[in-house]
Amino acid sequence: MALHLDFTGFFGDGEDGRLRRSDLQAAMPKAAEVRAAHLAQPPKWRSLHAREDLEQACKQRAQEVKAQGDVEYFVVLGIGGSALGTTAMVHALAPLYQQWKPAPGQPRVFVLDNVDPDWLGEFFASIPLQRAHINVISKSGGTIETSACFLLAWHHMVQACEGKEEQARQRFTITTDAKQGHFRRLADDLGFATLPVPDGVGGRFSVMSPVGMFTAEMAGLDVASIHAGAARVDQKLAQATAEEDPALVYALAHMLYLQQGKSVHVHFAYAHRLSFLADWYKQLWAESLGKKHNLKGEVVHVGPTPVKAVGPTDQHSQAQLYMEGPNDKVFTMLKLGKFTQELPIPTPFADSPAFHHLQNRSFSELMEQERRGTEVALLEAGRPVCVLEMCKLDAFHLGQYFQFMQIATAFAGGILGIDPFDQPGVEAGKVAALALMGCAGYDGRAQEIQAQFTHREEYRLSC
Ligand code: PA5
Repeated sequence: MALHLDFTGFFGDGEDGRLRRSDLQAAMPKAAEVRAAHLAQPPKWRSLHAREDLEQACKQRAQEVKAQGDVEYFVVLGIGGSALGTTAMVHALAPLYQQWKPAPGQPRVFVLDNVDPDWLGEFFASIPLQRAHINVISKSGGTIETSACFLLAWHHMVQACEGKEEQARQRFTITTDAKQGHFRRLADDLGFATLPVPDGVGGRFSVMSPVGMFTAEMAGLDVASIHAGAARVDQKLAQATAEEDPALVYALAHMLYLQQGKSVHVHFAYAHRLSFLADWYKQLWAESLGKKHNLKGEVVHVGPTPVKAVGPTDQHSQAQLYMEGPNDKVFTMLKLGKFTQELPIPTPFADSPAFHHLQNRSFSELMEQERRGTEVALLEAGRPVCVLEMCKLDAFHLGQYFQFMQIATAFAGGILGIDPFDQPGVEAGKVAALALMGCAGYDGRAQEIQAQFTHREEYRLSC
């Protein structure tokens, strides 16, 4: 059982577009200090896998909800860190078409992380809410998108329950801060069931808390194994020396490449089930590492641009740019050691030369050869590539992946000298949206924003 990192394609002779091992070694002592400081005072998310109290709370709430006996639809309302980990996990581990054909005895899971009126309108018009449970997730308890979605869901649920509010309330769980925020107050005042988002754990580092684990329980996923995978990574990395710590090597190499102008970091997933991990990674890497100020308060405007790619689909979309465009990218190929299905390629036209090379071959073999072909071509074009392989896709390996990437992100932030755990830019956008929606207390900000749009430069193509 392993998460396997292959850094072979990350290093070269410096002339071929890739880092020299010696450059990494030269930068290692400072990176090792970052790591030592992190290990001396680990952030709270690092030990979420060991929080049996939270695991138990999720299990118990899932049992209560399942005991209602009729929950066929489980709807998550949240955004950013309150949604992406859940989406990644469900796509990775639940049946691929679970929204059509869920695992026996499990509800279909939907994650609504947008305020698009067409999407929401059609969703709530289509779903039999009398057989649904809604999990509202917001750490701050004040995110405007989640608040609006909650109001819509509540409105429809009360209708579905023929106006019986107590009955509607039973069909909600609110996952939020244990003490503060609008959702906490609402839940306390009106008696909604809640689960806590632990203190000191930011949204994008919260997938192993009730933020992700309540849905995991409801979807019948193996929460204990997700946590065991994360614990194994913690243990293994803590035992390694700095030079041997793959999370530190991953972080440091990426940050050195960033300094050299390779600022686009591509997560290239060679498995459909892994493709949503790339969305989770994008937020983790972007929101943690994209910062205006460093820890000394200096303006630095640093950060890589994470990109999601899916192989081989994007070989026919992005690969031309990756191979021949600007050499400003670093690639992490995500692959599975073993797919659940081997799936032979049928050969009904045995005599046709068009298909000879596909005879007695399988789709998993084709997938791997496509990945290898792309890897080789990228390397020949002087593009750094690292391969992250999960020997198989199960709860344990997913837990390993989550923890590995979180730790690498924390190290990368330390190496950059920024705070990877805040998100002032996101907060600025949240405040602006609240102001423009007329939220009390934000009048001054609303006026400032309106004043910036008195003159517009517009072009209109009339029909
Ligand atoms: O990682 C983060 O902190 C953010 O992406 C948040 O998760 C996102 O903004 C949603 O916030 P909240 O959970 O407070 O509604």
